[in-house]
Amino acid sequence: MTERTTTFEVHPARGAFNAAFFTVMGPNLEWNLRRHKRRVFADLPGSVVELGSGVGANLPYLAPGSTLVAVEPNPPMHRRLRAAAERRGVRLDLRERVAEDTGLPDASVDAVISSLVLCTVPDPDAVLAEVRRILRPGGTYRFVEHVAARPGTPTRWLQRVLRRPWAWTFEGCSCERDLEAAVRAAGFARVDVEPYRLHTPFVPFNSQIAGVVHV
Ligand SMILES: C[S@@+](CC[C@H](N)C(=O)[O-])C[C@H]1O[C@@H](n2cnc3c(N)ncnc32)[C@H](O)[C@@H]1O
Repeated sequence: MTERTTTFEVHPARGAFNAAFFTVMGPNLEWNLRRHKRRVFADLPGSVVELGSGVGANLPYLAPGSTLVAVEPNPPMHRRLRAAAERRGVRLDLRERVAEDTGLPDASVDAVISSLVLCTVPDPDAVLAEVRRILRPGGTYRFVEHVAARPGTPTRWLQRVLRRPWAWTFEGCSCERDLEAAVRAAGFARVDVEPYRLHTPFVPFNSQIAGVVHV
C-alpha cells in the first residue's frame, strides 16, 4: 500500500531559491513549453484549479477576469504568485494545501491544470486520484510534465546520475517518473498524451509529455 503523504516541508533557503529560480527562468521555460501549453491549456473555463502554481507560470493561459484556485503548499511562492495574478487580472483563491488533498468537494470542478508538478509531489498516484475525485463528469485535467527518458538512452543515464543533487536543489523533483503510465493507469475515461523532447541545457528535464484527460 502506498503511504499517503499530505504534508509539505517548507525549506526556507531552497523554497526562496526555487521561487527566485522560477521567476528568473520563467520566460525561458515558457519559450520552450509555449507550443505544448497553448495546445493543452486552450479554451480553459472561467474557473480553474491549478496544482502547484509556483509563481504563476500558467496565468497567461487564463482569461483576465477568471478565477484560479491555486493549490500551492510552498509559502515562498505566494507573494510572487499573488502579484502575478493581480497583473493578469485573475482572481486568485490561494490554498496552502497539497495536491494529494485539495480539500475541494467531490465532482465540483470543470478543469484542473498542472505544469512541472507531478515530478515533485510525493505521491503522483494519490494526486491523480484526487484530480478524478474533484472533477465533474465531462471535466478535464490538462498537464505539461517532464518524465523519465527511454531506458538505455544517454538522457536516462544522466537522469539517474543526477537524481540526488537534482532532488535536493528542486525540492524533491524527480526526473525518473513514468508519468504517462501513471496517468493511463489512473482510471480516466479518455487519455490523450503526447510525448516530446525539448532542447534545453537542462538535459534531464528535456523528456516531456503534455496531455488532456477526461473523467
Ligand atoms: C517545479 S515547480 C513548478 C511551478 C509551476 N507549476 C511552473 O510550471 O512554473 C513545482 C511546484 O509544485 C509545488 N509542490 C510541491 N509539492 C507539492 C504538492 N504535494 N502539492 C502541490 N504542489 C506541490 C512546489 O511548491 C512548486 O511550486
